[in-house]
Amino acid sequence: MKIKVFENYDELSRFAAEVVKETINSIENPVLGLATGSSPVGMYEHLVRMHKNNEVDFSNIISINLDEYVGLDGSHDQSYRYFMDHHLFDHVNIDKSKTFVPNGLAADLEAECVAYDQRIRDLGYTDLQVLGIGPNGHIGFNEPDEKLTTRTHVADLLDSTVDANARFFESRDDVPKQALSMGLEAIMGARKIILIASGQNKAQAIKALEDEYITTQVPATLLKVHPDVLVLVDKEAASLLNR
Ligand code: F6R
Repeated sequence: MKIKVFENYDELSRFAAEVVKETINSIENPVLGLATGSSPVGMYEHLVRMHKNNEVDFSNIISINLDEYVGLDGSHDQSYRYFMDHHLFDHVNIDKSKTFVPNGLAADLEAECVAYDQRIRDLGYTDLQVLGIGPNGHIGFNEPDEKLTTRTHVADLLDSTVDANARFFESRDDVPKQALSMGLEAIMGARKIILIASGQNKAQAIKALEDEYITTQVPATLLKVHPDVLVLVDKEAASLLNR
């Protein structure tokens, strides 16, 4: 795992977009694992700009997202499907039928999870997985716990995560308390991973990535055993690092 510190969020986002661009331009049918939330917004903005400058072509891409809230329809402005359409898919030449986000409205959520994992295996896992990180160290919605789940599952969001995400909703009560989330197998199956963290509230979680220890209480520490992980942080998120 390498940690790279940037002067500001825009530089970080530009670099992240370059990594995505290189992946897209160097692989015939790239499979991208994508994240939502505030962390990758700048990266998506740069990718849209690069696309408009003819630097990157999305026509051969398959994308598969990390997670989706249970109970939100794709047209709900806080659903992750809506986020992806709004921040990326509607602005680039991607074939939307090749963009996958878990269906948080599936009648049988368990079957949806099994099918999602099967799809990831059939795709041969991702060439590049983009991750954010929760203030509590979660990746996807793999929340700190005694045990973590390998497969795609229905995750109960911790109160701290509901609090952190309440800023996107009208009130805290509106935040879904469950999400469908890829498990550790799909995330760790990626050939390359970039994790984006910006802001002081991520500093504690980023500090846990600095030493050689792994703990399920900070799920992102599991990434330390993956052979190709690049952690991209701004100065605020890096503020507790020793280096
Ligand atoms: C989103 C996801 C989450 C977020 C994390 C950080 O698809 O999987 O793990 O990356 O909660 O969220 P932000 O970026 O909003 O601080």
